[in-house]
Amino acid sequence: MSSHEKQHLPIGVFDSGVGGLTVLRVLQKYLPNESFVYLGDTARLPYGTKSEQTVIHYSLGATEILRNFGIKLLVVACSTASSIALIALRETLKPLPVIGVLEPGARAACELSRNGKIVVIATETTVHAGGYQRLIQQIRPDATVIAKGCSLFVPLAEEGWVEGPIAEAIATAYLQQLFSVESESLPDCLVLGCTHFPLLEKTIKKVIGDQITIVDSAVATAKIVKDTLEEQSLLNGKIVPSMTRFLVTDSPQRFVNTAIQFLGRPVSIDEVELVDYNFKL
Ligand code: DGL
Repeated sequence: MSSHEKQHLPIGVFDSGVGGLTVLRVLQKYLPNESFVYLGDTARLPYGTKSEQTVIHYSLGATEILRNFGIKLLVVACSTASSIALIALRETLKPLPVIGVLEPGARAACELSRNGKIVVIATETTVHAGGYQRLIQQIRPDATVIAKGCSLFVPLAEEGWVEGPIAEAIATAYLQQLFSVESESLPDCLVLGCTHFPLLEKTIKKVIGDQITIVDSAVATAKIVKDTLEEQSLLNGKIVPSMTRFLVTDSPQRFVNTAIQFLGRPVSIDEVELVDYNFKL
């Protein structure tokens, strides 16, 4: 297929479930002429508490569906899959460009932090894998990184409990201590290292204060996706009208019910297709 023909293919966006819609939302804003096919592996959600081996198997199985669909670039919107499975995905899907959310987020944090004291919040598996910590340290060797697992933010966001006493109590339990230190050790930057966490930004700010810079990896990722498409002459020249399709591996209705909070617009059941893959461990 010529690069001119490839321009009309959609961008694939892969996530463990519904949370990656926060990334899709930003991608659609930055790339309004592009079509997207979003795959949420809702049957296997959450990835963030699974072992590395399982996350790699799930990610390889799920993205095979997107490759067969025909995409010109893959965005791994899920931070857990980006931190664990990116190398395997790049290797398997070669020569398809595969972009994860970790490096863009880490780069943005290194640029935005003045004192180099950076906190990353993510799922348990992402924190345990240490990808954010390694990347930040590589890009900015003077940085001090604290990574904190905040797994309860995931169900809170899916339940829509992103503000109010319960969300605040949980955010306080996770974060207050890290930001109640002497001013010379006070982190000045917080990375939202999980698809779901942008929904809790207001509550997080209430707990840690307005002066801390919050990095949402989605914005940094969208810029890299745009640059990559430009470099590879893959930007859509607008001849084909843009469209978005949603694929899920479990109940389309449940996806539709939760999607609006993450995408900021309703998704109709007709836009969602049930798919699956063979999972062998
Ligand atoms: N998408 C996951 C992430 O960004 C959060 C949900 C999950 O645990 O699967 O890490």
